[in-house]
Amino acid sequence: MRFTHINSLAFEPDPRPNEHHLRTTPTPINICTASRRNPYLQEARNATVAQVAAGWSSRIEEFLRTETWRRIEAIFNGPPQVLQRLSRIDKIVGFGLGNLTTSAVGREGERPEEEGEGFRERRSCMQHALLVSLADLLEARTGSRVRRVVQEPAYLDTCKGALSGRGVEVVERDDGFLLVDERTLVFAVSCNVPVRQIVADLARPVGMIWDRVEPEDKSPPEWEENEDGGLVSPYTTDYASSRVCEMVQEYTEHLLPEEDADFLGHVGVYVRKEVS
Ligand SMILES: C[S@@+](CC[C@H](N)C(=O)[O-])C[C@H]1O[C@@H](n2cnc3c(N)ncnc32)[C@H](O)[C@@H]1O
Repeated sequence: MRFTHINSLAFEPDPRPNEHHLRTTPTPINICTASRRNPYLQEARNATVAQVAAGWSSRIEEFLRTETWRRIEAIFNGPPQVLQRLSRIDKIVGFGLGNLTTSAVGREGERPEEEGEGFRERRSCMQHALLVSLADLLEARTGSRVRRVVQEPAYLDTCKGALSGRGVEVVERDDGFLLVDERTLVFAVSCNVPVRQIVADLARPVGMIWDRVEPEDKSPPEWEENEDGGLVSPYTTDYASSRVCEMVQEYTEHLLPEEDADFLGHVGVYVRKEVS
């Protein structure tokens, strides 16, 4: 990233900047803020812990009927020799799984033009459902305790109440990273911090469930043009750096069904080769 005096932004911008232009000229940066106390759904403002817990529970039941869960069960219910290896997992740490309250209590429906008029996205509930269901499965298989830990700055008190009711610990600040070690399963979907890059520099967890590391991530990323002729950046916050690509070579990749991409995106399950 390059910082340049703001005056230089006063020049007339090139209406169709090419990649060279984008890479070499100063780019304005928007700094946005969001309030944890002002969730966009009216329903979320008035929600109780019991309502969030109930909304989330029904999503957990729904999650257990998905193809994704069947696939995860097959991966983690492997042959007996897998058992000893799986017993290494003593915690699942989830990063950026979204605001559970807004996901649990909004009205179902189409996303309105004006965000916030009651649209309920099931993503956060389903992702948290995966975390607790997998912890239950591992505990049942290995007989060992598996901590459920999540890091998400967007949680409201109602999210924390519902999570704690199911034994999920919420860490403050970025303390979740301090827990990641060789006995951890990391879970992250489209996080707004570079979870994959940080983890690649920290440890070699037993496994990760996170945005699929595309083979083409190894090539230099390319800007794309959208249907309106605008340029779309290939860079995301949790971009798969070369170190992330190298790291996943040490893991067996299992893909999850495309049909559940609406709540999970395109994630892969990565199990360390020496334990898979
Ligand atoms: C694009 S949203 C994805 C949410 C959800 N995983 C999904 O797929 O719908 C990114 C999330 O990252 C969260 N986030 C931002 N900073 C974070 C941090 N330091 N640690 C964990 N999560 C963070 C945001 O609050 C937000 O919920």
